Amino acid sequence: MSSGLLDIESLDRSEIEAILARAHFFQPAQGETFRRLDALRGKMIVNLFFEASTRTRVSFEIAAKRLGAETVSIAAQGSSVSKGESLVDTLNTLVAMRPNAIVMRHESSGAPRFLARHLRIPIVNAGDGTHEHPTQALLDARTILDQRPTLEGLRVAIIGDIAHSRVARSNVHLLSKFGAEIVLCGPPSLLPHEFEQLAPGVRLAYEMTEAIRDADVIMMLRVQLERQHEAPMSAGEYFRFYGLRLEHLASAKPDVLVMHPGPINRGRELSSEVADSQRSVILNQVENGIAVRMAVLERILNPS
Ligand code: NCD
Repeated sequence: MSSGLLDIESLDRSEIEAILARAHFFQPAQGETFRRLDALRGKMIVNLFFEASTRTRVSFEIAAKRLGAETVSIAAQGSSVSKGESLVDTLNTLVAMRPNAIVMRHESSGAPRFLARHLRIPIVNAGDGTHEHPTQALLDARTILDQRPTLEGLRVAIIGDIAHSRVARSNVHLLSKFGAEIVLCGPPSLLPHEFEQLAPGVRLAYEMTEAIRDADVIMMLRVQLERQHEAPMSAGEYFRFYGLRLEHLASAKPDVLVMHPGPINRGRELSSEVADSQRSVILNQVENGIAVRMAVLERILNPS
């Protein structure tokens, strides 16, 4: 971990627990804004995003600033990447300016790990292709634990485009390390059998009603149109079979939590009524993104 944060798969339970506990410390109390701290004063963090992002990029920036660090954010569109520079050359150029850490999002699975092997700087993976999105799984766990005493034995349904989802992969790894039962559900073409072997406690379901039955948490995923090579289902057709609606919640546990990493597509993955319902913790997830990323940045830059 001292070298950065590349994935959830290689973390052990105690490391995850330490990050979640520290994130809890950083959560603002009701009606309070975040405290400004200076644990990372004098540090410089570069956010390098080769793919679109709103909440992840902004919350990494805010997290760094809350800890007193300085940040520079670069979008690939406006950088020399669009002039043909290779990834390694771009990173070497940035490292020559001596930042203390690089937070990166890239469309290639494994890009952060590859770079971490070649560069002597902590790298935080903010989402790599269809591989992992570790801080998303950490903030999802923090959000569940704000409402439930433990992840052990919880039944979590993850529904949607499982095949292309780095959010699903990271969550499967994290939740299974804590003994949760995971049901993955989606259209057969987006629900590969390999996922059953990804971690203990995972099973697949093709019907929404089956996935949702007895679920404590329902995590909806965006259809990753940018990663699909075949003609996708229309929004209406997808919504009919895999969109979460109020009638589904009526047959779920009364206190079920509805989550979504965002960006949400109302009328495709879930209805507006569900997104805005009492059961939805989608904005709590966004808020927790800051506390969790503060915990991660502090841990890699200021390990005690
Ligand atoms: C996710 C991502 O980029 O993997 N978004 C996010 O970081 N909150 C999910 C998505 O884009 O569908």
